[in-house]
Amino acid sequence: MNRVMELTENYYGVADGELTVEGIKVSDIVEEYGTPFYLYCPAIFREKLRRLQKALKGFKIYYSVKANPNPEVIRFFVDQGCGLEIASAGELYAALSCGCRPVNIIFAGPGKTESEIIAAVESQIGEIHVESVAEIERVAAVARQRNLQMSVSLRINPGQNAQAGAVQMGGKPSAFGIEEGQLAQAVKKVMGCENLILKGLHIYVGTQILDDKALLEMYRYAFDLAGSIADLSGQPIETIDFGGGLGVPYFEHETELDIESFGNNLRGVINENRSNHALSKASLVIEPGRYLTAEGGLYVAGVVDRKSSFGLDYVILDGGMNHHLAASGNLGQIIKRNYPLAVANRISQECIRSVNIAGPLCTPIDTLGRNVLLPEIEAGDVIAFFMSGAYGLSSSPTGFLSHGAPLELFVTNGEVHVIRKRGTYSDLFAETSIEKLAFEEVADDID
Ligand SMILES: Cc1ncc(COP(=O)(O)O)c(C=O)c1O
Repeated sequence: MNRVMELTENYYGVADGELTVEGIKVSDIVEEYGTPFYLYCPAIFREKLRRLQKALKGFKIYYSVKANPNPEVIRFFVDQGCGLEIASAGELYAALSCGCRPVNIIFAGPGKTESEIIAAVESQIGEIHVESVAEIERVAAVARQRNLQMSVSLRINPGQNAQAGAVQMGGKPSAFGIEEGQLAQAVKKVMGCENLILKGLHIYVGTQILDDKALLEMYRYAFDLAGSIADLSGQPIETIDFGGGLGVPYFEHETELDIESFGNNLRGVINENRSNHALSKASLVIEPGRYLTAEGGLYVAGVVDRKSSFGLDYVILDGGMNHHLAASGNLGQIIKRNYPLAVANRISQECIRSVNIAGPLCTPIDTLGRNVLLPEIEAGDVIAFFMSGAYGLSSSPTGFLSHGAPLELFVTNGEVHVIRKRGTYSDLFAETSIEKLAFEEVADDID
């Protein structure tokens, strides 16, 4: 079965030959709200969360805000009892505004600025994950000046021994984390700072990991590293954060991560390590983003034009990589592959024509589909891109060509809610000198 059929069957639906979301036809949503838009289904987020909670019993789950920072999405995970993993003062602000208790926030990421550290320390968040020895000093200085205690964990970039696992962001030179060779120095530094409390370890070595065996290797290695921190500090470990990185299948050749088998095998690794007194009480943490949100989002764009160019058929949409960089294959993908996509209002029709799908930008990299087999399409049809709930809008260059950002919608209990208004081009220039011109005058000029 292809990915579109799988996703439609597992999470969406079909009525009268059209794609539906919670029983509502996508074309009806288009009629009311226009295109382009992102649409998210909290019921699907919940299903993924439950599956993860069941497979990894006893783990504390922190939703990684960067995957989808829409406040309603953040609020959803907070309401489900998740903590939040943040990477900037902006995400801290969002987390607190969405009702997350500071103690349930962890802050990772390289290059934390002085003002970000101050915000985190003054908010007394759960943990700051320090990414360099110099950062330890900066956090300590901020805490000392305010006469506050701050909990930190060491984000470690594992050494060569960890190469057996799915190490993508670890085991090699990187801006992320403290290299394993500096572990002793880092532990000593934290232990020497009166205002810092050493909680434990953070390891995050890569995203989109689909191989449960490789993942298990990495978790095993993290336990070993945590044991070393305990030895070096002479105190038990309170938290081990295994990062995010749980993958989801986007393309035909990818197989779903077997989270149940991973959870079963992990139980053995946990039990082995629980016998180590220094690790026996450590709380086990994961901070997934993609796994929780990818399937629950669609990006929907309208067909504006069709043409043939030197023998190739083109479909031009009203949104492209300016809204969905990942679907264009330009967000770190090595090989550009088509996201699972379908003509939402013709989902049951036979796919007979191979087309290229382009966005409206003035660059050939604004291509959202290459040689895609679809039904006969005309202007006014709508294309739905599946797997768009993670690393969609906020990872895209919305300012490029000044089209403005798309609408964001929640579909919950059979109802559609606007969770972010469509950005217009006047919004894009709101803080500039253009602000002084009334929109009508600009429109007159354009006419
Ligand atoms: C520190 C950290 N934690 C969590 C995540 C979330 O990763 P994923 O969406 O692959 O689960 C990321 C992603 O870059 C990250 O850098």
